[in-house]
Amino acid sequence: MKRTSHSLIMDQDLLDELMEQTHLLNHYKEMIDKNTIVSMTDESGFITYISEAFEKVSGYSKREVIGRTHALFRHPDTPKSFYTDMWHTLKTVQVWDGEVKNKRKDGEAYWLRLHIEYNKDSKGNFRGYSATGHDISNKIHLEIMTKELEYRVATEVEKNRLQTTQMLEQSRLAQMGEMIRMIAHQWRQPLASIAAISSTLTLDVIMDSYKKEFFEERLEAIGDLAQHLSLTIDDFRGFFKETKKKGAATWEMLTEGSLKIIEPTLQTHSITVERIYESDKLLHTYTNEIRQVILNIFKNAEDVFSEKKIKNATIWVRSYQKGSTACLSIEDNGGGIPKELLSKVFDPYFSTKEKKDGTGLGLYMSKTIIEEHCKGKLTAHNTERGALFEIVLPI
Ligand SMILES: Nc1ncnc2c1ncn2[C@@H]1O[C@H](COP(=O)(O)OP(=O)(O)OP(=O)(O)O)[C@@H](O)[C@H]1O
Ligand SMILES: [Mg+2]
Repeated sequence: MKRTSHSLIMDQDLLDELMEQTHLLNHYKEMIDKNTIVSMTDESGFITYISEAFEKVSGYSKREVIGRTHALFRHPDTPKSFYTDMWHTLKTVQVWDGEVKNKRKDGEAYWLRLHIEYNKDSKGNFRGYSATGHDISNKIHLEIMTKELEYRVATEVEKNRLQTTQMLEQSRLAQMGEMIRMIAHQWRQPLASIAAISSTLTLDVIMDSYKKEFFEERLEAIGDLAQHLSLTIDDFRGFFKETKKKGAATWEMLTEGSLKIIEPTLQTHSITVERIYESDKLLHTYTNEIRQVILNIFKNAEDVFSEKKIKNATIWVRSYQKGSTACLSIEDNGGGIPKELLSKVFDPYFSTKEKKDGTGLGLYMSKTIIEEHCKGKLTAHNTERGALFEIVLPI
């Protein structure tokens, strides 16, 4: 009697405990159903269950999907072979982990990170598959947006680079036009001499007063002049060779290289160039491009002299060292740059000259060359007599 009542009490306890556990289990199931993306299929891959969380993310109700296969959720971007591979993996290793792009009932795409496993019953028999997962659409959207942004930034940067290249090219062409003017100028005098000599010789022939020695002397002079003409062409050619190569040169070598081209023109306009070279440091830099910058600054001085009809027009060139830099200053007595324009002279297309006389790219191009290619500094300020341009380069 005692035993029976004891075992009855035990059974009651067991029952209570069982009810308690069932209640807890239901609670867990409810929690999982609400918050976790879960689906189950039978042995043939037909859906037997989806959680409420899966209903929410897919837009389908349980009723609409039970009995269907996962092909229902396939996004057109996800190839059919993706599922064939997935099933193959499941059949062989019994688990599958990965990311999948699905299509909601309303057509929108969403991404899931999934873990799929083989289900076994208590006797170890295969009973279909269950999958759990979470929605990673936000992460993927963020990745797509980042990629798009990166692409947009890259295309903008490329556009910008192209634009700068085009501007430099435009400025180079303008400078070449200028060069041709200077060549013409430098050729005029020797050509006139050749013409004069040849007409003397022609006259001698006509007058029949041909003297061998005199003839030879004149012919030699013509030869020398022709040689000079050819050298001038070489100078100009060397100047405009498109070498993006670095070289080594002192400020003196660079400045004299530019003056070789422009000084004859400056001299005919009675412009004096005074130079003091205090720094003889070798600069390892884009020498050809720097010579173009110096030429630009000289040309601007020449322009201001002729525009303002300056008397005793002079350009002072000075090279000097400042700490770990070597500098070149080019100053003129052309009256300077109006204060309100000082901040604009390096802007692209800024010019106070008539369209035919200036593109407004000279100083913009010069600043790009010095600061971006050569890692230096190009600045302008006014002095008592005119404008002063300073080029600072690292040694
Ligand atoms: N030495 C100077 N004295 C006074 N003003 C100057 C001097 N150098 C430049 N400027 C001013 O700066 C402007 C811009 O010069 P920049 O060399 O960039 O263009 P530009 O000479 O007008 O045309 P280009 O492209 O043919 O050189 C000039 O139009 C001029 O107003
Ligand atoms: Mg200019």
